[in-house]
Amino acid sequence: MTLRLAEHNKDDRERQLAEIRQSLGGRSIVLIGLMGAGKTAVGRRLANWLNLTFTDADSEIEEAAGQTITEIFAEHGEAYFREGERKVIARLLEGGPQVLATGGGAYMNPETRAAIKARGVSIWLKADLRVLLKRVGRRDHRPLLAVGDPEAVMKKLMAERGPIYAEADIIVESRDVPHDVIVSAVADALAAKLGCDAVLTRGAQAAKPGRKKVQ
Ligand code: S3P
Repeated sequence: MTLRLAEHNKDDRERQLAEIRQSLGGRSIVLIGLMGAGKTAVGRRLANWLNLTFTDADSEIEEAAGQTITEIFAEHGEAYFREGERKVIARLLEGGPQVLATGGGAYMNPETRAAIKARGVSIWLKADLRVLLKRVGRRDHRPLLAVGDPEAVMKKLMAERGPIYAEADIIVESRDVPHDVIVSAVADALAAKLGCDAVLTRGAQAAKPGRKKVQ
């Protein structure tokens, strides 16, 4: 909260968030990016700021399957997981507006990408290797990282997925800073993309002449 107030005054921010909500209509804000990029943590906070529902696709897949992702991979294999992931995300996208965090591989599926384009605004949380490895090192529930050297796997995924993630509507650098700093950058980028930052900029300038807009 302190950070939000430091970057935009409270009224400006509230106005910006209300404009974003309105501009979204029934679309979902869809967070994409590699494991450890902060999709769930940032998404949860963003939903809270926007007063929208937060949905985590991985949790929904686990609930639909009655198994953890690790169990699904082990018992049925990755292809089966991917098919379930595609179906669950297609269903979830019918339920906007919301903030939807997707698993790292979801956006690689062309049908899922098309569905997100049709019914959402996509945001790639782009983090460097060091940040990703630091974050994923804290937990061990990711089957793709359980086999082989996590650094080598992550490098490979970065190379394979980066060009596809780059198709997202918005790209925000996810750095090793408090999550609210990233949420703030996401809100500003969303407002700019949705064409609703004019009010904020005007309001901010009127309130504090010469203040710089957050990058
Ligand atoms: C995966 C990422 C995971 C989960 C699954 C596969 C991937 O989600 O969907 O383990 O292919 O990158 P997170 O990105 O939320 O860790």
